[in-house]
Amino acid sequence: MSDRRKVTVVGAGNVGATCAQVLATRDYAGVVLVDIKEGLPQGKALDVNQMGAVLGYEPNVVGSNSYEETAGSTVVVITAGLPRSPGMSRDDLVSTNEKIVGSVTEQVVAQSPDAILIVVSNPLDAMCHVARNVSGLPKERVFGMAGILDTARFSTFIAWETGSSVKDVQATVLGGHGDQMVPVVSATTVGGVPLRKLVSEERIQSMVERTAKGGGELVNLLGTSAWYAPGAAAAQMVDSIMLDEKRVLPCTAYLEGEYGIDGLYMGVPVKLGSRGIEQIVELDLSDDERAALQASSEAVREVVGVLTT
Ligand code: LAC
Repeated sequence: MSDRRKVTVVGAGNVGATCAQVLATRDYAGVVLVDIKEGLPQGKALDVNQMGAVLGYEPNVVGSNSYEETAGSTVVVITAGLPRSPGMSRDDLVSTNEKIVGSVTEQVVAQSPDAILIVVSNPLDAMCHVARNVSGLPKERVFGMAGILDTARFSTFIAWETGSSVKDVQATVLGGHGDQMVPVVSATTVGGVPLRKLVSEERIQSMVERTAKGGGELVNLLGTSAWYAPGAAAAQMVDSIMLDEKRVLPCTAYLEGEYGIDGLYMGVPVKLGSRGIEQIVELDLSDDERAALQASSEAVREVVGVLTT
């Protein structure tokens, strides 16, 4: 492996492999892909490396079944765990994935005590609590990916509805990564024009609902969870940290009073840089949005209450 700084992705399933692939194309770090299944991380790493010869990036992805290769990682993305099957909610995965995420966190931190951890496994908000409790790392260095994905879904629907470029849609989705997530319509614009000036309330509500149930729509189509947008969303967080971009992105952060919520991981806009979460950005919400965020936090607390970690 080259002398580049290292990013580890744990879990060589669809989401982990997509994240590793997007990071490989970005071409600034070495990527270690870890999975317990023999051959899988090695095979996917080899394939992604060979794609570099076609697309024009360096072959710096390593696949491994052990954590030794991950030593000294700057960022670790945890995607390990079971995905959803049709009919399952994310919360149905809590006990199984608590064990997996707990054990992965322990092994990752033993090799990379200075790393920043990005959790992707579901149920996301609860799994962030597991990673923080097991690692003992400060909250700035343990957080989760959900808001970028949920916002990407909302933005896609808005681009279609308004016939606009998705690049001109500015949106944000807050709250837990569950069906009670909160697309912030009051802060959503297309080319600087508020969404409410462009689209009827009825159409907005139908996009809000489709976004909130967006993961389930994909599970029903695919028979398992989505991976292209989730993998790319995690990679965007890695970019902002590794390149110290200080982007403001919706991420699952540990709240201590922000948005009136205390002692809970929830999706909020944060500034991401080389130190991890460098700031939690507090938006002015409408009364309805604030109430919806509160309801979402109660749903998250219920799942967190099931944890034994
Ligand atoms: C989704 C899964 C990854 O929302 O939670 O697609």
